[in-house]
Amino acid sequence: MNRRGRVSSATAAPAEERSCSWLNPWVFLVSVLAIKTAFVTICCFGGQYPSLCQQASLTKMKDSTSWEGCVYCPKGWKHFQEKCYYLSADKMSWPESVQNCTGMMGSQLVVINSKEEQEFLFNLAKEVSTNAFETKFYVGLAASANGQWQWVDQTPYKKAATFWKPGEPNLLFAEKCAAIHVKGKRDPNTYSNWNNVLCFTSCYRICELPVKFV
Ligand SMILES: *[C@@H]1O[C@H](CO)[C@@H](O)[C@H](O)[C@H]1NC(C)=O
Repeated sequence: MNRRGRVSSATAAPAEERSCSWLNPWVFLVSVLAIKTAFVTICCFGGQYPSLCQQASLTKMKDSTSWEGCVYCPKGWKHFQEKCYYLSADKMSWPESVQNCTGMMGSQLVVINSKEEQEFLFNLAKEVSTNAFETKFYVGLAASANGQWQWVDQTPYKKAATFWKPGEPNLLFAEKCAAIHVKGKRDPNTYSNWNNVLCFTSCYRICELPVKFV
């Protein structure tokens, strides 16, 4: 009220009045944009995981009807559904791979829970696979002394939900650690590429971390 009174008394020309009434929707729009920018900035850089938020996106999650917000994956990690994935550029043994993933923001050596996840990871692995000879990526699956396969996060091992190569796992008395095997960029075996190896074999690894969303 006060402000309006001041504006109309200060502006004599009707033309200027009109430009003022034009201004208001723009001020509103700009404010909304500024608030949105501030929100994105706060949720991406002032959240609980500031260092993880260099790669943030506003995404409507698939499995939610109305939810919309920031989904974070750390820089260099790939987002799929509710997880972020890291494919290593270096190789190490299976126990070292477990340790390395755990040491990175509390992630874990990947546990594959679905056909969709298997497909996504195999496609990622194919992208970085540079030759047609086998490239191996450790997953968080190993056999105990009695030969029972176990996921690192205690997810129950269900044979029906595994993606072993035909005839694998074999030589279980010695080869107790599981890895995805990729034979180059055109490997068609999306759903049959796990193999078991000696746990001290140096392999690449895939770590996974839940997405952070606001
Ligand atoms: C895990 O491996 C990466 C890549 O070699 C390295 O940068 C990082 O320091 C390692 N982290 C731990 C906790 O071992």
